[in-house]
Parts: sequence; structure tokens; C-alpha cells
Amino acid sequence: MKNITVIGSGTMGNGIAHTFAQNGFKVSLVDINDAALQKALQTIAGNLDRQIKKGTIDEAAKAATLQNIKTYTDAIEGAADADLVVEAATENRDIKLRLFKQLSEVCKPGAILASNTSSISITEIASVTKNPANVIGMHFMNPVPVMKLVEIIRGYATTDEVTKTIMDLSVTLGKEPVEVNDYPGFVANRILMPMINEAIYTIFEGVAGVHEIDTVMKLGMAHPMGPLQLADFIGLDVCLAILKVLHNGFGSPKYAPCPLLVNMVTAGHLGVKSSTGFYKYTAGSKELIVADKFR
Ligand SMILES: NC(=O)c1ccc[n+]([C@@H]2O[C@H](COP(=O)([O-])OP(=O)(O)OC[C@H]3O[C@@H](n4cnc5c(N)ncnc54)[C@H](O)[C@@H]3O)[C@@H](O)[C@H]2O)c1
Repeated sequence: MKNITVIGSGTMGNGIAHTFAQNGFKVSLVDINDAALQKALQTIAGNLDRQIKKGTIDEAAKAATLQNIKTYTDAIEGAADADLVVEAATENRDIKLRLFKQLSEVCKPGAILASNTSSISITEIASVTKNPANVIGMHFMNPVPVMKLVEIIRGYATTDEVTKTIMDLSVTLGKEPVEVNDYPGFVANRILMPMINEAIYTIFEGVAGVHEIDTVMKLGMAHPMGPLQLADFIGLDVCLAILKVLHNGFGSPKYAPCPLLVNMVTAGHLGVKSSTGFYKYTAGSKELIVADKFR
């Protein structure tokens, strides 16, 4: 496996491209938005500089990594030579189904098609392709160059051979892959999202404030950050979308999104990306300040 196509160059796509390129793979990075591609290249260069400062890589490794990445605005052109496609486009079912149908028509026979989706069924994505046996979930964590875990999701039709190839490849990238089956939320989000939702219910019901809830979980459970800060990082819109998948997929009220989360997303308070969620985020400040609404 040599040629990797990464579709989508946002938060996850640039990290996935960086990781493959740094490990010597030829990466075609595709996005429909040229500005997103340019921003991704800048982000990757900035993150490589940070690695140089830390002493984990040198200037030559930075240059080699950047040389391994080519950008495309057309998925058909970008995926023509791919041995593996890792799709990291916007978390939207229709976008992903359209992309996978198109990819299965243009990719080389035998190419593996992977999705980085947080919650959309791999079995459903595979069902629109010519060869569902070659479709798999490769769920990287954010920030990709730093986080060790890759959750490998086997769709209903994914073969043992394809699963082994992707597990082994993840190890080559310096990651620790974990194999799971394809049910709503897989493992990571099936466990994480109910915890975040419960933390939001705990505010909603007036049990405690933002600072208090996050402090209990940080100091009491040794979590590196509290669930509300983590929700702000992930994006409250993303959390809501994943909870809806769990709620619809299992049909159980235990996954019903908290009305406060729904209200915050409707109001456009999405966390870090909109500068306000449970905390306020000001450029350059590392201090965590609870948002006015919750003080
Ligand atoms: N953000 C996270 O913490 C996180 C963690 C794990 C998995 N994920 C998953 O990764 C995927 C990407 O998430 P993100 O946070 O990077 O999103 P993002 O919004 O930062 O980036 C998505 C990119 O996809 C591009 N795009 C949309 N449609 C496209 C198409 N048809 N062809 C090519 N590019 C297209 C957009 O222009 C955008 O640049 C989603 O499936 C998400 O669920 C996200």
C-alpha cells in the first residue's frame, strides 16, 4: 500500500494526511473547497514546526512530509491511483453516500474505501458501493498526529483480510488500532456521548455549574479535561448529531439529547469553533472562562 487519498481537508483530514505523509505514504488530499486545502497545508506545516521545536522531527523530515502531499479539488482525479481512500468529509449521511458511490466507480479494483465517520453506519455506506467487502471504518481521534487510538469498524460485509490490512497499516502509522463492530456510535461515541449528555443534564437540572462538573470529572476521575470542555472541543453540533444517531439507532430514551444542548446548537453556540459554548474562547488565551450564560 503506497498511495493514500484523503477526502476532506478539515480538522481531521489535514491530521490524517499529515500522519500518512510523515510515514512515507504518497497522499492525495481532496477537498471541494480550495481555501480549505490551502488552510490544511498551512496547518500541517505549522504542526510540523511544532514537532521540530519539540525535537521529535528535523527540517528534512518536514520537507519530505510536505513533498508527499498533493492537493486536488476533484475526488475522481485525486482517487484514481489510490490503494486506500480515507474519507473525512463533513459528517453528513447524504454527502458520504454520494462520495462512496462515486469512489467505488472510479477507484482501482481492490482499493480499500475507509470512512473516518464518528457515527454513520459503515454497513450503510458500504451498501451503495460495488464491493462492500472492501469498505471499513477508520476512526482517527483529534488531533490525529498526537492521538494513539484508531477505532477500526467492521461493517456487516467487511472481510477478515481487509480488517487485517487496515489494523496492520494503523500500526505502521504508530497508532494502536482497536477492532469493533458496526453498531450506532461504535464504542468510542457510544460511551463518550452519554457521559457528555449527562453532564449537560446535570447543569440543566441545576445540580452544579460548568466549572464544578468539569472539576469533579478532572480531579475525581483523572480525566485530562472535563466533559463540558471536551464537548466544546468536539463541537456541540457534532455531539448533538451523534446523540441523534444513538437515539434513532437504539430507539432508547437514554440517548435523548438534553434540551439545553439542542437550544445551544440552535442558538449557534457550538463551542470552540464559534468562540462560545460552555466556556468563552478568546484568541491566544489559554484561560478557561465559563460563558456568561452559565456564570
Ligand atoms: N472533529 C473531530 O473531533 C472528529 C473526530 C473523529 C472523527 N470525526 C469525523 O471526521 C469527519 C470530518 O470531520 P471534521 O471535524 O474534519 O470536519 P470539518 O468540517 O473540519 O471538515 C470537513 C471538510 O470536508 C470538506 N467536504 C465536504 N464535502 C466534501 C466532498 N464531497 N468532497 C470533498 N470534501 C468535502 C469540507 O469542505 C471541509 O473542508 C466527519 O465524518 C467527523 O464525524 C471528527
